[in-house]
Amino acid sequence: MIYPIVMYGDPVLRQKAKDIEPGTDVQSLVDDMFETMHAANGVGLAAPQIGKSIRLFVVDGRVIEDEPSMQDFTKVFVNPVMLEELGTPWEYEEGCLSIPNIREKVSRKERLKISYFDENWISHEEIFDGLRARIIQHEYDHIEGKMFVDYLTPLKKRLLKGKLADISKGKVDTEYRILAPQKK
Ligand code: NI
Repeated sequence: MIYPIVMYGDPVLRQKAKDIEPGTDVQSLVDDMFETMHAANGVGLAAPQIGKSIRLFVVDGRVIEDEPSMQDFTKVFVNPVMLEELGTPWEYEEGCLSIPNIREKVSRKERLKISYFDENWISHEEIFDGLRARIIQHEYDHIEGKMFVDYLTPLKKRLLKGKLADISKGKVDTEYRILAPQKK
């Protein structure tokens, strides 16, 4: 099942998401999240973006075809805990399915250590770096109620204000179904 993607401005994107009860069957939700993300050509999707304030996100880097490190980067993160972020901050232009048609440079640390469960409730602790870390940091932010535009300078934010207001009213072109908080 493909969910509509919740747009910027919806309070669910600003909540700190809750842990999922260990052992809960998340398989069908995970399948739906992959289906929703693939339909929107995304590299990551967090549960709040489909209106669910729970600590779950999925990533699939294969859509970035010219990036070898992305070709086996298909993962499910359940109840993840960011343990450490390390290294020199670097800038990369980020986008977000909840903020269509806006891309801006965001600076983040190059490496991270994270613990999480997969969809079968097997626990993992792993180190990621580069673009993999970047994608995880962006999605992890979603379950903490943060979005990439939060990192922009006040000037940049001011310049984007009108566009962001339009997005929350649903006045934006996307090739996927959206759910806009202020659409009348
Ligand atoms: Ni996003």
